[in-house]
This record gives sequence, C-alpha cells and structure tokens, in this order.
Amino acid sequence: MSHEYPINFARFYDTMYHQLRDGVDNNFHLNEIKQTKGKVLEIGVGTGRFFTDALNTGADIYGIDISETMVGVLLGKLDEKEHRRISVQSITDFNFDFQFDLIIAPFRVMMHVLEKSEQLEALNNVYKHLAPGGRFIFDTFIPDLKQLLTGLHNHTDFDGEYEPGKKLKRIVSTRPDLINQLINIHFRLEWDENNRVMHEDWKFPLRFFFRYELEHLIERSRFKHYKILGDYRGNELNEKSKEFIVIGIKQE
Ligand SMILES: C[S@@+](CC[C@H](N)C(=O)[O-])C[C@H]1O[C@@H](n2cnc3c(N)ncnc32)[C@H](O)[C@@H]1O
Repeated sequence: MSHEYPINFARFYDTMYHQLRDGVDNNFHLNEIKQTKGKVLEIGVGTGRFFTDALNTGADIYGIDISETMVGVLLGKLDEKEHRRISVQSITDFNFDFQFDLIIAPFRVMMHVLEKSEQLEALNNVYKHLAPGGRFIFDTFIPDLKQLLTGLHNHTDFDGEYEPGKKLKRIVSTRPDLINQLINIHFRLEWDENNRVMHEDWKFPLRFFFRYELEHLIERSRFKHYKILGDYRGNELNEKSKEFIVIGIKQE
C-alpha cells in the first residue's frame, strides 16, 4: 500500500502543486462537483488543493486520506465545524453509512494502490458507496515509454520560494521496475530555514497502468459502465493523450 507523506512534503505540497498542477485539473473537478446535486466524496483529499474551494461554493463534500500529515494541513484550513467532513481512511476499506452521488480520487490516488487485489477492493468499495446513477472519477498518467526506460536523474521540477526570500526546490529521480509495473520515485526537498539549507528525502513506488489493463481491471469490478477520457477538457483518448481519466457509472 502507500506511505505516509513526510512532514515537509505535506507542508510544502500546496506551494509546489499550485504551480505544477492547479492549472491542469482543478477546474475539471470543480465543475464535476458543481454539477452534482447530492453528496460528494474526495478520496485522497490530501491538503485539500481544491476541497476548500468546493466547500466554499456550497458543495456537500467529504474527504478521506490515509496520510495524517496531509489531512493535518487540510484541517488547519477548515473551520472547526467542518472537521467532521474529513477522516483518515483508505480507499480499499473506507466506510460511511450513507452514499455519494459523486466520488473522485484526483491526481494519481489509484496509482498508490499497488496490488491487484487492493485495486479491486478499492473499486468495489467505491461502487458500494455510490448512489444509483452516481459516478466515480479517477486518473492515472499514460506511461511515457521513453521516460519509463531511461528514468529521470536529479531533475529539478520545482524551483521557487515558499515565503518571500525563502527558497524551495524539489529534485526528482525515477527508476523503473518493469516486471512489477512500478516507477520508484525519489524526491528530495531543499529549503531555506533558520539561515540553513534543510533537506528531506522520500522514496515511494507508483503503479503505472496501460489502457487495456485498466479496462480489464474495471471490467472485473462491479462497474459495468465506464468511459476513459484523454484529458481534462473532456477529449476522447488519442495518440497525444497524457492522462487516463476514468469515469465509472453505477447504473440506476
Ligand atoms: C498526489 S496526492 C493528491 C491529493 C489531492 N487529491 C490533490 O489533487 O491535490 C495523492 C493522495 O492520495 C493519498 N492516498 C494514497 N493512497 C491512498 C489510499 N489507499 N487511500 C486514500 N488515500 C490515499 C495520499 O496520502 C495523498 O494525499
């Protein structure tokens, strides 16, 4: 299964992903949430990169995540009366005594679920928690074969500031494990604090998927109706697609 986000990765998550990710997917998810009349669940809610926006626009949204450090950052942003909406639970065995009209697991959450049995448990547990007609949306990236083979070597993917005058940098290296369909990621954070350059390292695996494996997986689950989009503008899969965005539907 996955790993706890180290404390400084949770601390700097919003600073980095505001730049690296917000422009890509948050409008898509916020739009899906806006179109939903009933309850919404975000699985792998993390620091609530767009959870707070959804809540502020009136969504009846809940969030779960397995990482206490990430959830800790999110709780710090919410009024105490909204804390009931957040809990530490895993996609494979979370439990609510009500159902949702929309469940989303944005930004690679399913790629943290490594084993086939856990992936099926996750899909079926989500299905169980959907109201009739409800939808489940999750994404995985389409493996870039060239990058998969060569990996990344000390590639700086964020170089900015977390506060005025205080530098923050993230360096990433990756190593493929083809037989287990894993990308082993090594992140290093470096930041200015107390007149020193601090650092923290984090290594974890991500499971990558190809199209027909994803289709077979979904078809083995209780989801019988689904589609896969190729980007956050709603386009079908094509040779330029970089994302698999799965939308599973629980039939009425
Ligand atoms: C890349 S972050 C995405 C966070 C947020 N959804 C966003 O879009 O910014 C992936 C999140 O999935 C969480 N996660 C990983 N495995 C999980 C699991 N089995 N159940 C629930 N959350 C999980 C991680 O702790 C992390 O917060």
